[in-house]
Amino acid sequence: MMKSILEQLGAQQGLLLAPMEDVTDISFRQICKEFGADIVYTEFVNADGLVRSKKPTKSRMKMILREEERPAGIQIYGGNLDSMQAAATIVETEQPDIIDINAGCWVKKVAKRGAGAGLLRDLPYMVRMAKTIVDQVDLPVTVKTRIGWDDDSIQIVELAKMLEDVGVRALTVHCRTRQQGHSGDPDWTWIPRIREAISIPVILNGGVMTPQDVVSAFDETGCDAVMIARGAIANPWIFREAKQLLATGTLPEPPEFRERIETALRHLRLAVQIKGERRAVLEMRKHYIAYLKYVPNSRQMRNILMKPETLAEAEDVLHSLLYYSEEFLQEHEMQAA
Ligand SMILES: Cc1cc2nc3c(=O)[nH]c(=O)nc-3n(C[C@H](O)[C@H](O)[C@H](O)COP(=O)(O)O)c2cc1C
Repeated sequence: MMKSILEQLGAQQGLLLAPMEDVTDISFRQICKEFGADIVYTEFVNADGLVRSKKPTKSRMKMILREEERPAGIQIYGGNLDSMQAAATIVETEQPDIIDINAGCWVKKVAKRGAGAGLLRDLPYMVRMAKTIVDQVDLPVTVKTRIGWDDDSIQIVELAKMLEDVGVRALTVHCRTRQQGHSGDPDWTWIPRIREAISIPVILNGGVMTPQDVVSAFDETGCDAVMIARGAIANPWIFREAKQLLATGTLPEPPEFRERIETALRHLRLAVQIKGERRAVLEMRKHYIAYLKYVPNSRQMRNILMKPETLAEAEDVLHSLLYYSEEFLQEHEMQAA
């Protein structure tokens, strides 16, 4: 029997980093990969934008993959079949391990155009889009979707069968409806029902925030892999922690202060290489919350880290935190007083 795409990529029972706009850039993906993510995904790339522009735009930058982060998927979104088909051809030139179709984005301006979760309004069209892309490219095509548009239109089992029939190689299911957005309880009970109906891998997504949730997801649903989004922003170590918990039943110690700061430094430097100094330094601010979690005085540290505008300044602050955290903070408090 042919191996599933997850087996081929060494990610059966794996932990996947979800695509997240403005978060899963090349540097965050690499950090999560180092901590044990089995497959990482780019943030979604706008098919229309990709097709229209000839220059190396932001959309194209989002698709650049490094060898170290593979296996990696590039995700595209759009409501127009022709653009999606043309975009898939462009994506193929980057040779990702997977092309993923976004059929789950709930944001109004996306869904209104029939893209993302908007595709759930017209399942035959979504399936035709998937088939067109499967036929067009020589790469494995996967789909990430939701259980349905709203509680009254949950057709995920039927959809899963249709997508499998046209050659989609794995299905990620965010176990919420479009109406729920990112809130409310995800309903994982759909996963076993979908698995019963199809033989391609089913990847569970939604509500996996802790290593314990990863264990529950596998135990309760029998899913083939787990995809983590916000749980990885809050704690990129979740992959390592969940893997140890799955393998041994015990959790590793949370990362120590030194490791947290050293990881933040690595993340920052990678981001500067890719995005340029100013953008990287400013965008890094949203990640410091995770890196400083559980650290005493972290609020003051975070405030201090919101100030640097150059790499040198940011490195300086992080080094100071690393080597002189106590004295540094006291000094700062005195200066501020
Ligand atoms: C900041 C942010 C950006 C997101 N961007 C994308 C995206 O580009 N593509 C996508 O398929 N889903 C995107 N999502 C949805 C997540 O991939 C995931 O389906 C959702 O957050 C549920 O998983 P969680 O409960 O583990 O967070 C995004 C979510 C967040 C929080």
